[in-house]
Amino acid sequence: MNIQGKTALITGASRGIGRAIALELAQHGAKRLLLVARDLDRLNELAKEVSAFGVEAIVLSLDLTQTVEVNISIAQAWRDHGPIHLLVNCAGVAHQSSFLRSQLLDVQEEIAINLIGMYTVTRLVARRMASQREGRIVNVSSLMGKVAAPTMATYSATKFAIMGFTQALRGELAAHNIGVTALLPSLTDTDMARGMQWFRWVAVMTPKQVARALINGLNNESPEILVGWQSHLAVWCNRVAPWLLERILMFTAPQVE
Ligand SMILES: NC(=O)c1ccc[n+]([C@@H]2O[C@H](COP(=O)([O-])OP(=O)(O)OC[C@H]3O[C@@H](n4cnc5c(N)ncnc54)[C@H](OP(=O)(O)O)[C@@H]3O)[C@@H](O)[C@H]2O)c1
Repeated sequence: MNIQGKTALITGASRGIGRAIALELAQHGAKRLLLVARDLDRLNELAKEVSAFGVEAIVLSLDLTQTVEVNISIAQAWRDHGPIHLLVNCAGVAHQSSFLRSQLLDVQEEIAINLIGMYTVTRLVARRMASQREGRIVNVSSLMGKVAAPTMATYSATKFAIMGFTQALRGELAAHNIGVTALLPSLTDTDMARGMQWFRWVAVMTPKQVARALINGLNNESPEILVGWQSHLAVWCNRVAPWLLERILMFTAPQVE
């Protein structure tokens, strides 16, 4: 997909990977960006940066757990600023903990944002993309959507679910000329990662590197975009010697209370 002259909606645009993706899309010639997250000040700041590239920025301050409000607001945005050619579902939360100490409220939040939030936006946008018979949807999963690891059980569960959701949609929406892609970042230096204890030996990526990998993947029409050589190695190892990878993960995982 060539982003030149296109309109994109990015959730989770206020910070981290979503913000970097918005800036990268602006630099690659997007015409209009719809920026979604809760923090209005950060979104306005990003809108200013994006406008400096000559790109029109529309700010939508939304909490993705508020389904009715999200539906109304994005439907209006499509009417006023659409059609949307590219949807990037990037908003997400992660709670790291030992499973035995995990809290139901944390798991509910991960499911509400990572899964139900993604479902809500995707359903609304995909229906409209299907009517115009054009579109691309990018769902941000994680390396932990391919390789689960200690201390991240519930987060990994949502990211594995996103891989299944993405694969099913890819098959189903192809008939409507809508492409569906999974983006799988590994550990990336953002607020999310800063709140965690890190795995040993894992190289940390920058949000910009992730955003660049997405642009390359979109240009190549890749169905799954793994970011960084360590991710490729981990997925390969998981395929040929899963027992070995499990040992390595147990050894490198942080000791979280
Ligand atoms: N960082 C990593 O190591 C890593 C690795 C693999 C995958 N990922 C995935 O990459 C995506 C982005 O993560 P990140 O690292 O950039 O995290 P981040 O810096 O914490 O940013 C999370 C984004 O999600 C938005 N968000 C959270 N809750 C929301 C809600 N209820 N409604 C609307 N927006 C909400 C936040 O905006 P507001 O707070 O303004 O609402 C923010 O823009 C996530 O899906 C994450 O799982 C991250």
